Amino acid sequence: MLKENNFDLSTRNTFRMKVRCACYVEYESAEELAALPWDELPKPIKHIGGGSNLLFTGDFPGTILHSAIRYVKYVDLGLDEVPVVAGAGVEWDALVEELCSHGLWGAENLSLIPGEVGAAAVQNIGAYGVEIKDLISGVSCFDLQEKRPCKFSVGECGYGYRESMFKDAGGRYVITSVLLRVSRSPRPRLEYKGLAGIDASSPMAVREAVIGIRRSKLPDPAELGSAGSFFKNPVISAADFVRVCDAAPGVTVPHYLLDGGFVKVPAAWLIDQCGFKGEREGGAAVYEKQPLVIVNASGEASPGDVLELERRIVATVHQRFGVSLHPEVEHI
Ligand code: EPU
Repeated sequence: MLKENNFDLSTRNTFRMKVRCACYVEYESAEELAALPWDELPKPIKHIGGGSNLLFTGDFPGTILHSAIRYVKYVDLGLDEVPVVAGAGVEWDALVEELCSHGLWGAENLSLIPGEVGAAAVQNIGAYGVEIKDLISGVSCFDLQEKRPCKFSVGECGYGYRESMFKDAGGRYVITSVLLRVSRSPRPRLEYKGLAGIDASSPMAVREAVIGIRRSKLPDPAELGSAGSFFKNPVISAADFVRVCDAAPGVTVPHYLLDGGFVKVPAAWLIDQCGFKGEREGGAAVYEKQPLVIVNASGEASPGDVLELERRIVATVHQRFGVSLHPEVEHI
């Protein structure tokens, strides 16, 4: 176990914000987590994963917890479906690569998403027509309120678009491991337009195609700090969609129809229409190739730079289109 006071978090968040926390604890097992000296730890307590979907808005006065539970167990019953248990601290993409290398289908569309297994299950990560909830059958947790382990079936996790019961519970449940189901028989998911016509002969082939798309659109976290998509794609009513169309005369507004007459409009398009590509605020900037992403362009961006750019984008999109953008990135 690692326990350090006044800890520098700059290597623990992919936005590379130079912030500190009063105490940082990294534990290696569910037992170690349960045995932490809870009364002594500086409050509040906040759990993070790979730090790839969060923005520290300043120094954190309490304790940051991080899981180093890093086992992967296959329950091979000789059936087509293979249950896999992964510790919350396993790097998500390393797991995807391992599953693909074993020829197991299910996770390949979620290739190259930064972060760790536990946080992936909290956020219900999604890409190219698949969400992690499609693979999850259960989640093991530690209840910080009752200080005891507990389990949830996928139905109890309350999953929606980047939503879950874990988010709503405000950090009460710390995920310690996730039970996924992958399959031996092919089940390629190629509905996302960019995947049409790709080589889908193996999960590894699909993974490589997905990696190619992501590399062409999204910044490489090793080179440029960011937290991926900064905003969620807004879901609006049909009447609001008509207003968006009216505000962009002569242009076909990209959109996806959802149940109940709702329409999802790409936030990237709304931000792009407002001319924000490449826009800078101090050390922060809107990524040129995908305006849904805010990057730490100088490497020295402060939380204030990012927050100001966020504020300007939200205000401009609202003024022009009457649509409210909401951050996908968690602000801490
Ligand atoms: N677009 C523009 N200008 C641009 C780029 C995109 O107008 O410069 C418009 C286009 O109409 C394009 C549309 O935005 O068709 C959507 O872009 P894209 O298909 O790249 O996906 P996205 O909606 O921007 C979402 C997820 C991504 C995920 C991709 C692929 C959210 C918030 N983001 O992005 O997830 O990888 O779909 O499935 O739902 C993340 O969560 O961090 C993330 C990267």
